[in-house]
Amino acid sequence: MVMRTKAPPPVRSGARNGAGRPIAVLVVHGPNLNLLGEREPEVYGHTRLADIDRELQQLGRQMNMEVATFQSNSEGAIVDRIQQARGKSEVLIINPGAYTHTSVAIRDAILAVAMPTIEVHLSNVYKREPFRHRSTIADIAHGRIMGFGAESYSLALQAARTIVDAARVATSSAGRT
Ligand code: DQA
Repeated sequence: MVMRTKAPPPVRSGARNGAGRPIAVLVVHGPNLNLLGEREPEVYGHTRLADIDRELQQLGRQMNMEVATFQSNSEGAIVDRIQQARGKSEVLIINPGAYTHTSVAIRDAILAVAMPTIEVHLSNVYKREPFRHRSTIADIAHGRIMGFGAESYSLALQAARTIVDAARVATSSAGRT
């Protein structure tokens, strides 16, 4: 297991933590990521997708987050899953795999659900072929995390926590003025 299991930041109480309400996060993995651990391990590492998902759910519980995970090799299925998350998930973490470089449909789905989105890649795409340097979602993502192997996902989950905390603080202070 390559992923870090270091203690996450403590869950805060009161308004900053939405009075204990867990944060719903959707994690989407695109094509060929079902083969993680077997597929080009020199690029993507040895950790399997099931281990990544389990780790995220465990880390999520420690941070009061409810993590749903989804993988598909099909662009339409990914669009459907993102649409289903509308009004249900607070943050989307997505590694669109090769669709990163081509998919206008996934970009449009993210815009349609208007959810803060973190783009994740196991590899640092900028160290690779030029066609991987282009992302159809880079400019609409809240942020991008790449190059840390499986740990990119746990870093993204911690970033998701930060995004939601900041949004909740902003909402509660707006309510006080
Ligand atoms: C990837 C990078 C993509 O270029 C590639 O097509 C993938 C995986 C990554 O996580 O590094 O399938 O998204």
